[in-house]
Amino acid sequence: MRLSNDVFILGTGESKYGELWDRSLREISVEAGLNAIESSGIRTKDLDAIYMGNSLAGMISGQENIGALMSDYAGIADEDVPTLRIEASTASGAAAVHQAFLSIKSGEYDLVMVGGVEKMTELYGTEMIDISSSILDREWEAFFGGTPAAMAALSARKYMKDFGVGKDVLAAISVNDHKNASMNPIAHFSNIISLDQAMNSTPVAEPLNLMDCAPQSDGASCIILASESYMKKEGKEGVKIAGNGISQEYFALHSRDSLYSMKSTVSASRKALDRAGISLDDVSFAEVHDSFSIYGIMALEDMGFAPRGKARDIVLSEIGLNGRIPINPSGGLKAKGFPYGATGVGQFVEAYLQLMGKAGKRQIADPEYALLHSVAGTGSTSIVHIVGGE
Ligand code: COA
Repeated sequence: MRLSNDVFILGTGESKYGELWDRSLREISVEAGLNAIESSGIRTKDLDAIYMGNSLAGMISGQENIGALMSDYAGIADEDVPTLRIEASTASGAAAVHQAFLSIKSGEYDLVMVGGVEKMTELYGTEMIDISSSILDREWEAFFGGTPAAMAALSARKYMKDFGVGKDVLAAISVNDHKNASMNPIAHFSNIISLDQAMNSTPVAEPLNLMDCAPQSDGASCIILASESYMKKEGKEGVKIAGNGISQEYFALHSRDSLYSMKSTVSASRKALDRAGISLDDVSFAEVHDSFSIYGIMALEDMGFAPRGKARDIVLSEIGLNGRIPINPSGGLKAKGFPYGATGVGQFVEAYLQLMGKAGKRQIADPEYALLHSVAGTGSTSIVHIVGGE
């Protein structure tokens, strides 16, 4: 049985994404939360719950129990608002939204805050790459030298060989991200890059180079979700979460049927579109999880924006802000930045801004539906949401 109490995004807030050397995990988290409260015009004592997406704070800074910490640091510890951390690797933020969505849909809660936060620049170099590799199968991938970039490189090599695709197609994803991020004031990177610069940047894991990789970013994002009855009672305006899908697939890359398809993404996007009652043609723009450029290409094909092996036909000409299907108007993981636990929530911030017509210079003309795609690890879990509609 699917319940009819619709869920709306009532307001959003973010910290800057980037290398925030002088800010702590708790500071950026509370900043995003306060911005979201101001944007939605609610009082914290009216919140029924808070869900926090976070992936790696325990390993990076030795800090666990993030939910309770943020509640206390925000000054609401005595308001009795249950605050829980949700962890699903690089999809932690989207997973937190998913749990909040269910809690409202079930009728239990009316007003829920969802935060996402990661502070990734506390450590650097090989130490950080080792911690990032904890999102892989430690025993069978990372132990043998696998890193996230190395696993993505395997997918890229096989894809390029099987479909005769050049590096320019991968690089075009990053060029588009940087262009859009240059219009996003909170983005990690604000520089525009050319196809040539992207293709000839420092090698990371052949065939991927620096401009094919999302950075290690600090950042926090926050949204306030409300039930339909709350929206009506308070006379508020917002953006509907029209559909959602969460799917699972084999954990390690070597167990999968294909190196360049994430079955979890195929399935999650179908579920989300089906639940929203729309087709891909109705989607006005998408935020896709392009932690590596090849994953952006795979996402477009897995979700049906392009046939398998044919993403080049759209990424070279149709994914700009004025294109047939704008991709990553926020700047995506590559250029808005990639604070693991925040990214999935940040996609909702972009959807809200675009659908409310508040996205400034990067505003897409008359968008109706956004598709938001978030991935854990190399594809073990995918979470897709459709936002928008009446
Ligand atoms: N794109 C563009 N520039 C980047 C960058 C990126 N992805 N990563 C770092 N830089 C820049 C930094 O801003 C810095 O510039 P500056 O000298 O002007 O200040 C310079 O490169 C060196 O930065 P540094 O932090 O030393 O880079 P690094 O070599 O330690 O890390 C990567 C680069 C690609 C290895 C790192 O960003 C990375 O691991 N990315 C992938 C994240 C990941 O694993 N995600 C998991 C996905 S499933």
